[in-house]
Amino acid sequence: MRSSVFLYATYSLCVGLGLLCVLFVTYWSSHWNGGFAWDHSALQFNWHPVLMVLGLVVVYGNAAVLYRLPFTWKQNKLTWKLVHAGLMLLALLLSVVGLYTVFDNHTTINIPNLYSLHSWVGICTVALFALQWILGLAGFLFPCSPLWFRGSLKPVHVWLGKMILILGLSSCISGINEKLLFTHNESSAEPYSTLPVEAKFANFLGILLVAFGLVVFGILSKNKWQRPEPDVESVRLLQTDNNTRI
Ligand code: HEM
Repeated sequence: MRSSVFLYATYSLCVGLGLLCVLFVTYWSSHWNGGFAWDHSALQFNWHPVLMVLGLVVVYGNAAVLYRLPFTWKQNKLTWKLVHAGLMLLALLLSVVGLYTVFDNHTTINIPNLYSLHSWVGICTVALFALQWILGLAGFLFPCSPLWFRGSLKPVHVWLGKMILILGLSSCISGINEKLLFTHNESSAEPYSTLPVEAKFANFLGILLVAFGLVVFGILSKNKWQRPEPDVESVRLLQTDNNTRI
């Protein structure tokens, strides 16, 4: 009982930090960078940070901890698998649209594509995420997927899932840094090294993202908060019982 109160408190912190990240990135884009548009311009670029933070960090992180919520444990696992897969698909679509906004903006104003370290790490993250989603669908949701495949996929899925969140956070942090260095370069009125208000705000957004990541990893690392799986013996007994009835 005490453990689930602590879990729900930690989960509320996770949701609260996630909302703050989205609010901060949206405010940064609208207050300091001119707001949003869908016209290939710099204002279209402003969707990029918002959609990446929302998709690859906030929705992704919340979808990752979904199975840890005790109220889901008594319900049918398939329902929660579908909710998990659906939220992950939403996260993936948001990040693909987020990538489109920046590629389209770069192509329109003749900026080369994929030259920065940020863009290399970012594109690899989204590619791994797409692969993870497809394998997850094939392994855990296709009724005909063989048991050996599910069994071998599970540890890889759990490991890769955590790595994608780390890579998503790294991409966001490097992206924030890169944008600040572009805007507040040495020839601007307020170079980054003078720590203008915008830089303080965006640095703080980076700290919020790190805090969100730490809370998600905190929830994932607690074995006590894992959905209880039926032990091997009871699965065997259930199978024997079913065979007898047949
Ligand atoms: C998971 C999160 C993110 C991923 C996967 C990602 C991915 C990418 C990719 C692939 C590009 C290259 C587009 C091209 O070459 O045309 C790019 C560009 C860019 N991104 Fe991100 N991004 C993420 C988050 C952010 C955030 C939060 C910011 C903050 C402002 C940001 C700022 C930039 C900037 C300034 C560029 C243009 C310069 C460049 O190509 O490096 N990104 N991003």
